[in-house]
Amino acid sequence: MGTSNGNAKVKVGLVGLGNIGKTHMSYLSQMDNVEVVGVCDVVRESADAFAERYGTTPYYEHIDLLEHSGLDAVIVAVPHYSHVTVAMDAFARGIHVLCEKPLAVHVNDAKKMIAACEEAKRNKPDLQFGIMFQERTYPFYRKLKDLLDHGDLGRLTRVTWINTTWFRTQAYYDSGSWRATWAGEGGGILTNQCPHNLDMYQWLFGLPARISGFAHIGKYHNIEVEDEVTAYFEHDNGMIGHFIVTTGESPGTNRLEIAGEYGKVVYEDSKIVFYRNRESMFKFSAESKQGFAHVENWYTEIPVDVKTPTGHHVVAERFIDAILGGSSELIAHGPEGLNGLILANGIMLSSFKKQMIDVPFDADEYEGILQELIKNSKFVKQTAENAVLNMSDSFNV
Ligand SMILES: NC(=O)c1ccc[n+]([C@@H]2O[C@H](COP(=O)([O-])OP(=O)(O)OC[C@H]3O[C@@H](n4cnc5c(N)ncnc54)[C@H](O)[C@@H]3O)[C@@H](O)[C@H]2O)c1
Repeated sequence: MGTSNGNAKVKVGLVGLGNIGKTHMSYLSQMDNVEVVGVCDVVRESADAFAERYGTTPYYEHIDLLEHSGLDAVIVAVPHYSHVTVAMDAFARGIHVLCEKPLAVHVNDAKKMIAACEEAKRNKPDLQFGIMFQERTYPFYRKLKDLLDHGDLGRLTRVTWINTTWFRTQAYYDSGSWRATWAGEGGGILTNQCPHNLDMYQWLFGLPARISGFAHIGKYHNIEVEDEVTAYFEHDNGMIGHFIVTTGESPGTNRLEIAGEYGKVVYEDSKIVFYRNRESMFKFSAESKQGFAHVENWYTEIPVDVKTPTGHHVVAERFIDAILGGSSELIAHGPEGLNGLILANGIMLSSFKKQMIDVPFDADEYEGILQELIKNSKFVKQTAENAVLNMSDSFNV
């Protein structure tokens, strides 16, 4: 942590008291440098119950929370489309924002949020805008970032990420009227479950120059959005990427293979294994006289310190510390959330158009397709709000 004044407290408001709202409230209530000055949910009973339990004030409209609670910062934990409204209303009032993932449903909305933050920073240069990408705190991903930034693999050639650990039942999708609809959620696995993985991909490897996406709509569930996706990425440096995800596979796999000039790194089953080439694969390939020879290599398991604190509270602690003028860097700055949306929207745009697309693509075209899907939807949404959702079961490693 940083060096902020130990006695100061940030006044925080929390909007959205559903599944993840509970997680946020539980750690916020334990933080010495936070005073929760208000909680807000459009469901009055939720707001009242939270307020009573945690000794704070209930609000039923986010505007009232922003205008009357005296808060310095807001945590936005409402369904996706509303991230934009709540965050922009907060920026307009000079209030710091920590937004849940994804930043927005589509690139155009994310750009509006970022512009609103930039505008607000003219009057308040130290305004903080964070996004809840808690997976960036996970030790294995941090170690992968460390290896890549250090250049241990040399030039990268291929990344293949199979992440099918996002299994969801029909009861999950039926648990909220907004879930798995174009109008309510704005997408499926790419919009809800995979923003962490898409962010991780861009954090580790950057954005590709071209995307081919293949998305199956409601293949394993009665939903109108995608629940199985395979994407192929081409990067300008020659690296290719595969991204394979679904909510319809159990048991699932989380395997990230990174191949490069100096070997291959595989992350799976809470282990990072490095198959290290003794010399450059490119040089060997060009110079060896043996047609079937391989580069000499050996493997080692990379030690990872798994004891470092991880999770949502770490992201929030950094955010609060930054507001208090501490020295710690945010885990993820809000505008970084745009890149994951470029991947998500790009994959869907390519899939809808059945062709490879260039990055950047026409964000208006994607938004137009989304609006058409909403307008023409004939989907009859089933809702059974009594599903058992234990949030901690959903956090993936
Ligand atoms: N970072 C993570 O690990 C993580 C995990 C789960 C969900 N999320 C994200 O958190 C957000 C919420 O997800 P959830 O699973 O908690 O959903 P949820 O449906 O359980 O809860 C959303 C809550 O927001 C309330 N709400 C809706 N619109 C509102 C508005 N305009 N103002 C005030 N309250 C409003 C609803 O009544 C509900 O109580 C989503 O963006 C989701 O992607 C993040």
